[in-house]
Amino acid sequence: MNSHDILVGQINSLRKEKNAVILAHYYQIPEIQEIADFVGDSLDLSRKSAETNADIIVFAGVNFMAETAKILSPQKRVFIPDLEAGCSLAESCPSEEFRKFREEYPDHMVVSYVNTTAGIKAMTDITCTSTNAVQIIESIPKEQKIIFAPDRNLGNYLNSITGRNMLLWNGACHVHEEFSLEKMLAILKSHPKAKLIAHPECQGPVLIAADFVGSTSALLKFVETDGGSEYIVATESGILHQMRKRNPQKTFIPAPPIDSTCGCNDCRFMKLHDLQKIFDSLNEEKFEINLDMEIMEKARKPMQRMLELSA
Ligand code: 13P
Repeated sequence: MNSHDILVGQINSLRKEKNAVILAHYYQIPEIQEIADFVGDSLDLSRKSAETNADIIVFAGVNFMAETAKILSPQKRVFIPDLEAGCSLAESCPSEEFRKFREEYPDHMVVSYVNTTAGIKAMTDITCTSTNAVQIIESIPKEQKIIFAPDRNLGNYLNSITGRNMLLWNGACHVHEEFSLEKMLAILKSHPKAKLIAHPECQGPVLIAADFVGSTSALLKFVETDGGSEYIVATESGILHQMRKRNPQKTFIPAPPIDSTCGCNDCRFMKLHDLQKIFDSLNEEKFEINLDMEIMEKARKPMQRMLELSA
């Protein structure tokens, strides 16, 4: 047995002994996706966190995802394998600044993307993910004014799809911000049969040029059902593992970022986790997510509204 198989064996024994589950986002490294009890997009991971009977959740994702699991399952112990796994988008919306912004528009309700801290969720009326955002926004009466936070690219995209004029917080994800129209057109030119598929956190011009726009799970579903054979994928590179695994006959090319030397279509936070850290997390019971009770109670309401609406 090689060292990888030994480590996987140890992880398996520990998760059984401790009645733990490992939840992983599609942006994790392939080795983690392969050992996870469940791999999914942020909506499915929220659902799994709320439903699981496990005593312990080890969350291989970024901080807001582990916090979300804790908010939805406060009686469970939730661990994140690397505490530094933050999220540039969540961090682009600090609580105090957002509180002041919200106070300037008291007649607006707040829809926030789940990529926010618990503090922002506690100031939110209803959360959404990129999978259910259109459905959530369309469930709100047309005359109701809305603040949408924190991703301005997703917000602009939602405004264009729903015909709303939501007020947008000026946040962005460091991975999706790096894709440019110019680079996309150049790569499409060199792969004339390829289709461009993009996550709605990409900038507007990239989304306009895309053949398909959707959340990670929507992109996966699209490539499984579409008749094409080659795709340029404008989102975090971890998703390519599932795409290739489920469609071995098709070709998937990571979209080039503005600076091709920066490796920026890897999320530097998502990619902090590895198998050793998952083992350590289970073994040493670290790093535990603990949130203020009052914030958790407040943050749970908009999440439950979202889960009810997108059941
Ligand atoms: P999904 O909702 O598609 O999982 O997106 C998560 C995310 O963080 C994108 O940056």
